[in-house]
Amino acid sequence: MAKTPMRVAVTGAAGQIGYSLLFRIANGDMLGKDQPVILQLLEIADEKAQKALKGVMMEIDDCAFPLLAGMTAHSDPMTAFKDADFALLVGARPRGPGMERKDLLEANAQIFTVQGKALDAVASRNVKVLVVGNPANTNAYIAMKSAPSLPAKNFTAMLRLDHNRALSQVAAKTGKPVSSIEKLAVWGNHSPTMYADYRFATIDGASVKDMINDDAWNRDTFLPTVGKRGAAIIEARGLSSAASAANAAIDHMHDWHIGTNGKWTTMGIPSDGSYGIPQDTMFGFPVTVENGEYKIVQGLAIDEFSQERINLTLKELTEEREGVAHLLKA
Ligand code: NAD
Ligand code: LMR
Repeated sequence: MAKTPMRVAVTGAAGQIGYSLLFRIANGDMLGKDQPVILQLLEIADEKAQKALKGVMMEIDDCAFPLLAGMTAHSDPMTAFKDADFALLVGARPRGPGMERKDLLEANAQIFTVQGKALDAVASRNVKVLVVGNPANTNAYIAMKSAPSLPAKNFTAMLRLDHNRALSQVAAKTGKPVSSIEKLAVWGNHSPTMYADYRFATIDGASVKDMINDDAWNRDTFLPTVGKRGAAIIEARGLSSAASAANAAIDHMHDWHIGTNGKWTTMGIPSDGSYGIPQDTMFGFPVTVENGEYKIVQGLAIDEFSQERINLTLKELTEEREGVAHLLKA
């Protein structure tokens, strides 16, 4: 018997990432090849954006996806998030000329407060929310805090692109396939301060750290390459990463819904206090997922170098959180 369709809300649907993301969701790459989906697409009310969204929807129609059970366009989050089982919050205000980081945080804080409240009011009580729009961790934190009637654990931020970038760098360094690498972790913020950590990683059971055996490469090449990859892509393409970001969003939601079969992945999730990260801080952790629930991998030894890196990314997140605290009081 055919499964009941699941409702997937996507914001920023006419943007770059949306253009890579929507087709894959409708193709079953995210929730499985037997899971029908209904797309509920949100864009700003601006006439040009809504017209562009209609164009994307025409193209989706033209793919005749067998799993697509419905598709609607919205300019109001209260209708876009109605009964949503999944919400991918991609749309965000980009940094404009003369804008300071603080201005960006404030502009996005407003968007994610409104969207958090709308999710709280109308989404499924089990909605799984992924925030992609930057600054992703803090936006996810704001949405979570704006949705007090939904479980905090339903809100996550995208660290999967950093995780995939790290996997690919380790594969290139060791000359082994990406698929053979297990137990990689990325800690902290989706920003250049994130800490990609291959100390526990294995390839066919052998330690990646021992295989690479080069702390200088880790510090001077690997971490800066992964941390600054977003900027390198902007520099090369003239636009920020889109297909790889969409791919990471698919991976994140797929694994959250389907599970990781005991394997580790990285998700930005509200901390439960593990590893000394204050409760509710939206932080990248190594997790495993079973039956739709993620669990932080516990008991990992944190050496001095790793603790310094974790402290640095935590400090940045704490500052971002303090920068928007006044907006969450109202
Ligand atoms: P884009 O500018 O091409 O598209 C964003 C779209 O969002 C636009 O169409 C815009 O109209 C829409 N939008 C803006 N505010 C909205 C709102 N309040 N409601 C609904 N829609 C809204 O940008 P993009 O390249 O698709 O990137 C989107 C975001 O994702 C950016 O913030 C980018 O920095 C971020 N990003 C995050 C990661 C990550 O790993 N977390 C990776 C890449 C990009
Ligand atoms: C990325 O990591 O590619 C995105 O977050 C875009 C950016 O601004 O770095």
